[in-house]
Amino acid sequence: DWTMGAYREEAIAKIRAQVGTGRVICALSGGVDSSVAAILIHEAIGDQLTCVYVDHGLMRLGESEQVVGMFREHYNLPLIHADESELFLGKLDGVSDPETKRKIIGGLFIEVFEKHAKALGGAEFLAQGTLYPDVIESVSFSGGPSVTIKSHHNVGGLPERMNMKLVEPLRELFKDEVRALGRELGLPAHFIGRHPFPGPGLAIRCPGEITREKLDILRKADAVFIDQIRKHGLYDEIWQAFVAILPVRTVGVMGDGRTYDFACALRAVTSVDGMTADYYPFTHDFLGETATRIINEVQGINRVTYDITSKPPGTIEWE
Ligand code: XMP
Repeated sequence: DWTMGAYREEAIAKIRAQVGTGRVICALSGGVDSSVAAILIHEAIGDQLTCVYVDHGLMRLGESEQVVGMFREHYNLPLIHADESELFLGKLDGVSDPETKRKIIGGLFIEVFEKHAKALGGAEFLAQGTLYPDVIESVSFSGGPSVTIKSHHNVGGLPERMNMKLVEPLRELFKDEVRALGRELGLPAHFIGRHPFPGPGLAIRCPGEITREKLDILRKADAVFIDQIRKHGLYDEIWQAFVAILPVRTVGVMGDGRTYDFACALRAVTSVDGMTADYYPFTHDFLGETATRIINEVQGINRVTYDITSKPPGTIEWE
């Protein structure tokens, strides 16, 4: 008889047996997997765990505050909010090539995490929210030609480089089981049901050069789009939805004045695993209302388009 309550107890016992009196650090991303792993480990070993939230300045509106606030207040979990946005945005300044952006962000992430781990006096163990599909991924893809479409941002290289042992309490679970475990651990439903968000964050939703101005506009437009989706009760039907700010300004008219502002693209897809995806069939009413709201509420955008590319041939993210 296998329930999440029993899994929780078993996992806690295993973590205690593995870690003993050792120290564990965890890179908390705000995603469901690393969050559930951190809460479970904290339940097992308390303050022997420290989490580091690396804030690269590429999160959505209010997101860092929400994530850090929830863990500190609701879970009383030792958490370092490493605000490294100056560093990341500085190194990304003037960079427009998508793979270069990804490499810069991935490299800096490791560097920054290592720095904070050292400042804590080091740790023997690194916690990760690795799931069963992550464990078998290398097998399931081994048949096809190996073409790297995008270099994914993860903490894969860290354990060897830092000479750490891994604590991976979710290794036997699928995504839906992690969500069930998250509910069992008291994570709020809206947090558990959140759409996936990529490691490089808004950087890959801002094609061309990344500027603070563009990020700011993007955050506001994205918040309006998600608000619209929630208000229309569509959030849970959609795998991922977001706005990309386009590297082009276009001419518009507002009141009796001319505008010359950025165009943006709305992206919303359905998918089972992110490997393939279909664009979401919003009604024209929904799209029209959303465009009007974004243009009225977000200064800096005067044109809204809807991306109707499926994957393949498109990818979900723009970069
Ligand atoms: P693409 O754009 O390749 O995205 O169709 C497929 C899924 O992966 C997410 N994604 C990432 N997730 N680190 C992540 O953790 C990354 O570097 C990354 N790049 C894309 C994307 O949001 C979608 O869910």
